Amino acid sequence: MKKTLLTITILTSLLSADGINKKMMKQGEEIFNQTCVGCHGADGLGVEQGGFTVQPRKFSKTILNEDQIFHIAKKGAFYWGAVVTGMPAWEYVYDDTSLRAVAHYIHHAFGKESSESVDVLEYNSGALSEKILKRGKKIYGRNCAFCHGKEGYGQGVATYNPEQSIFPYDLTKILLSEKQIFLFAKHGGKHWGSQRDDMPGWGVKYDDETLMGVARYIETKLKVKREK
Ligand code: HEC
Ligand code: HEC
Repeated sequence: MKKTLLTITILTSLLSADGINKKMMKQGEEIFNQTCVGCHGADGLGVEQGGFTVQPRKFSKTILNEDQIFHIAKKGAFYWGAVVTGMPAWEYVYDDTSLRAVAHYIHHAFGKESSESVDVLEYNSGALSEKILKRGKKIYGRNCAFCHGKEGYGQGVATYNPEQSIFPYDLTKILLSEKQIFLFAKHGGKHWGSQRDDMPGWGVKYDDETLMGVARYIETKLKVKREK
């Protein structure tokens, strides 16, 4: 009993009111400045002259929460649906504790506000009608398949150009939740930190319910649950 109390006291003294763990912040910042900064920049906004085919997205606008940042850092962006990427898997370099720390740092130093704008939004696709669900599939085929491919692998006709200059994600592999898929599709890539404007925002064309139908289609019919 005493031991539990002691543990609780220690834990709460490490956490400040805004959920910041000072020890993790310090360790995370060190790793970030050692390893990630060269590509992601000291401000987390990405480095322009990195010679990337696809530049890193701006962390200040990220849709990702802390846990997701950890998982992408661990297994690399390719594992989670990026089709060409200079973002390696760091699990061979750092243990989970270190990667949790760097995710904690990225979240609190750059991405907290943007990520929390996702958390506060209510999302309930459970009540969508059959009609909307059918429409979701149709709209996927009509609009998204052009880039992401009919099966979602990221190889739609828009990528057939031999000088391919557009790299849509493989939607079967993505880490995003259904709500995040909806929000990414609604507002487009740029809104969520992409440096290029290749992924349009569909909110100008379709209402929320319709886009929820598309997100539900991707979540339940295309996405494959993957080991973390
Ligand atoms: C050699 C360059 C390079 C280094 C070093 C690097 N990254 Fe990346 N990272 C990238 C690129 C490029 C992307 C964009 C991937 C894409 O979308 O194709 C990326 C994407 C990411 C993403 C996903 C962001 C999003 O919005 O989807 C996370 C999280 C991330 N990196 C974390 C890290 C962490 C943590 C480190 C250090 C341990 C690190 N990166 C080091 C190049 C790098
Ligand atoms: C003109 C090509 C194009 C079309 C059409 C398109 N996308 Fe994308 N999409 C992209 C590109 C390129 C990216 C990755 C680059 C970026 O971050 O902007 C992307 C990224 C995404 C992501 C983010 C995946 C992740 O894990 O970060 C989602 C979700 C997505 N698209 C859904 C959709 C949906 C839903 C539609 C149809 C309503 C659609 N896209 C139509 C090109 C396209």
